[in-house]
Amino acid sequence: MQQPDGSLVPSPDVPSLRGAVRPAAPFPRDAPFVRAFARVCSDGFAQGWHEANGGNLSYRLTSDDVAECGDSLAGEPPEGDPAWHALPPEARVPGLAGQFLLISRAGCHMRSVADDLPGSCALVQVARDGGAWRLACGLSHGGRPSSELPTHLLAHAVRLRASAGADRVVYHAHCPSVIALSTLLPADERAWTRVLWRCMTECVIVFPEGVGVVPWKVPGSLDIARASAGLLATHRAVVWTQHGMFATGQDFDAAFGLMHTIEKAASLYLTARAANGGAEPPFLVSDEQLRAVCASLGVEPNPACVD
Ligand code: 13P
Ligand code: ZN
Repeated sequence: MQQPDGSLVPSPDVPSLRGAVRPAAPFPRDAPFVRAFARVCSDGFAQGWHEANGGNLSYRLTSDDVAECGDSLAGEPPEGDPAWHALPPEARVPGLAGQFLLISRAGCHMRSVADDLPGSCALVQVARDGGAWRLACGLSHGGRPSSELPTHLLAHAVRLRASAGADRVVYHAHCPSVIALSTLLPADERAWTRVLWRCMTECVIVFPEGVGVVPWKVPGSLDIARASAGLLATHRAVVWTQHGMFATGQDFDAAFGLMHTIEKAASLYLTARAANGGAEPPFLVSDEQLRAVCASLGVEPNPACVD
């Protein structure tokens, strides 16, 4: 069907062209949330957390974000339309019904996201029943959302519930010190939390709930997505052993800051331990000091991790 401006658009009367072949919607590259998304990708690369295509990022849009995007997010196809990609039953997210998420593309290099936002990101919408997603805009050179989409979706659903709707960012990075530490520590929440809390006083204040730890699993699998989501119900950060970490938060600063704090504490511990000939450093924050700092700041530490 020829439009007055000469362009061709799929006719809504031709069923095979509905949804699957729709004109690329404009990508909201100048929206503040897109700029903030790009900054995290660049900052994470500068920290050394994103070799090659390592790591990924997602953001759940507010209703104001959606309104600001205007027409680029309109035109939700009907249920059953081929534009909807079904999710496996274990990755269904009814709690995210109708929500829009910005997520990095599978295989994209975080280092280069800011240079090509429409090609590096997918803006996806979750179906009304939580059982499918569709591409609203982005992926301008093709491709798919991150291979860790199941973990991002389940993480958003679980953090939305745990934070009464506040949490919007899910960030995955290959932080070197966390990965190195995971070759030394057992995959145990108490062991990890105590090492991190006890080498830097700020840690118990930043993550009083401790960190969850997922034992090694295949990346991109439903298994790792489910295990992570289970821990994210009560933690904002989870370690993936011999792989990296997921950190969540209400905004980009919160998620990035949490990732940074945990990675820095892991690095300090490794440095101190190496400087001590590989043995446990002798002067760590004590349980009494942990309790004192928590009492003074009105923070409740995870009781399983403090004696
Ligand atoms: P993607 O490129 O698919 O996002 O995968 C990167 C990664 O870190 C997998 O765990
Ligand atoms: Zn990864």
